[in-house]
Amino acid sequence: MPARKDLNALRQSGPLILPSLLLCDFGNLEREVRRLEKAGVQALHLDVMDGHFVPNLTYGMPLVEAVRRITDLVIDVHLMIDDPVQYAPQFRAAGADRIIVHVEALPQPARLFAELSGSGAAVGLAINPPTPVGAVADFLEICDHVLVMSVMPGFGGQAFERIALDKMRELRQIAPERLLIECDGGVNETTIGDCAAAGGDLFVVGSAIFRHRDYKPRVAHLTQLAAAARTTC
Ligand code: DX5
Ligand code: ZN
Repeated sequence: MPARKDLNALRQSGPLILPSLLLCDFGNLEREVRRLEKAGVQALHLDVMDGHFVPNLTYGMPLVEAVRRITDLVIDVHLMIDDPVQYAPQFRAAGADRIIVHVEALPQPARLFAELSGSGAAVGLAINPPTPVGAVADFLEICDHVLVMSVMPGFGGQAFERIALDKMRELRQIAPERLLIECDGGVNETTIGDCAAAGGDLFVVGSAIFRHRDYKPRVAHLTQLAAAARTTC
């Protein structure tokens, strides 16, 4: 098992599905995490919303700590919050391995990323559907990954916005080879192949896993669709 934050090593083994816990059964959190472990996932995606940056509220550091206590899976924390400078280090301390900050909330991330990277975390910038790739172009050298939103953030279960595909292709052209491209929102059996063909490495999936009773076949099928699309592109 590679070091937790080292998704670059995991990437060699193929596309990775990151379940977004937003739609999981929080009353049975440990059972949900065990089911995902048994389904073979390598990382979990935790969506933090502050009711300001997005019109929805979710959870904070205590939940990340709780997940950290019960699993060694990589924890990917997606901060949809207005003030990442104040809170991102606290999420790192709570056990996040990878921290994603929106460029719309923090247009100059260098100082925060230096602090987080110095603590051993992987760092990434997220871009909303209307935000051009140019907004992150100057920071690709200090990012481990870029998360391309394929819905407006805030809620699970929304329809995939295809503009994300153009942006992933553009990013793949200009980003260093080591940079991981992550896609989030509306990723399911009909869209994951296009995401993989456009250059995606990591696929955040909420409803296409949690709206099904058995997670393992969903994760296996999505992984296989992404792998197949990648080899044919
Ligand atoms: C949306 C979140 C996503 C979301 C994905 O704001 O960032 O991670 O939960 O859920 P689906 O796959 O249902 O779009
Ligand atoms: Zn997310």
